[in-house]
Amino acid sequence: MSAAAQLRGPARVEINEVAPRDGLQIEPVVVPTDGKVAFVDALSACGFARIEATSFTSARAIPALADAEAVMHQIQRYPGVRYTVLVPNLRGLERALSCRPDEVNLVMSASETHNRANLRMTREQSQAQLLAMIDAASTAGVPVNISLSTVFGCPFEGEVETDAVMALATRFAEAGAAGITLCDTTGMAYPTQVAALCERFQAALPGTGLTIHLHNTRGMGLANALAAWETGVTRFDAAAGGLGGCPYAPGASGNVSTEDLVHMFDCMGVQTGVNLGALLDAVAGLPELVGRDIHSQLLSAGPRLRTHQPPAWMAEHFAAQA
Ligand code: COA
Ligand code: ZN
Repeated sequence: MSAAAQLRGPARVEINEVAPRDGLQIEPVVVPTDGKVAFVDALSACGFARIEATSFTSARAIPALADAEAVMHQIQRYPGVRYTVLVPNLRGLERALSCRPDEVNLVMSASETHNRANLRMTREQSQAQLLAMIDAASTAGVPVNISLSTVFGCPFEGEVETDAVMALATRFAEAGAAGITLCDTTGMAYPTQVAALCERFQAALPGTGLTIHLHNTRGMGLANALAAWETGVTRFDAAAGGLGGCPYAPGASGNVSTEDLVHMFDCMGVQTGVNLGALLDAVAGLPELVGRDIHSQLLSAGPRLRTHQPPAWMAEHFAAQA
């Protein structure tokens, strides 16, 4: 039987590369604009469905991405890739729309405390801004995705009520959001929890594109991705080199690494559209880009069928025995 015949989830998935935004927002160094542009251009050649190129946040909140306009104007737009940007408020949307993104990714948290810490607004204030932003983006003809942070747990509050997550998702879907991303901001999700929420979401909102955004803070990133995929989820955020993290979430660390995720799907015969070799080339350039070592398991180990020369002594030893 072929591997594809044994699939327990969708045969084809979309990978959204978020390292230029989720990754570079938390790096201690500010990557110069031309470095960011070269990074996005290298990622564009890999075959991603979407690349989240930057965010239109306040320069005080996220100094590393203060050059968002310049990045958006200088990157090359590859056909077939949708260039999206993270936006927290109306001022950010105005800036974003001036750069012709293919879509916008609006953000708020499912938990009150993280929303206040990250966005300096109550959830009610954020929700009102996001609803106004859905209208404004629709008028401009730009599709909207909503990223809901801390849906699987909040680093300040602990458990987050699934009912609250679904209420927000439903409100935004009804207001015209084309997609919703469920974000595990600090790697608090576990596989059965992910499966349960993904099943509930897809049953309640079958017409709304569901993306899952996982951080590998506690080593459950790939297990959570697999659990989501088995419920039918076809869209995954991931960051090259496992970069990433929210500067306003204590203990945040990197996203599930794109190369690990793509490699897993490749092994299983699930189509991602991503060229793993090109992606690993981009990952190999990360230490120079961010000025520190990157611990990419796949870059170190190579794909699973990378083989090695046996030890030199073996040929002689076994020839002598023959
Ligand atoms: N882009 C650029 N500047 C912005 C802005 C935006 N999207 N939103 C607000 N500003 C500016 C205002 O013009 C104002 O400037 P001024 O001091 O020169 O007058 C200043 O920032 C303060 O504005 P205010 O509305 O009071 O914003 P704030 O300081 O309360 O911050 C956010 C609110 C949402 C803009 C800010 O918290 C933010 O950008 N958060 C994003 C965090 C993030 O990206 N986290 C990781 C991803 S989940
Ligand atoms: Zn994230």
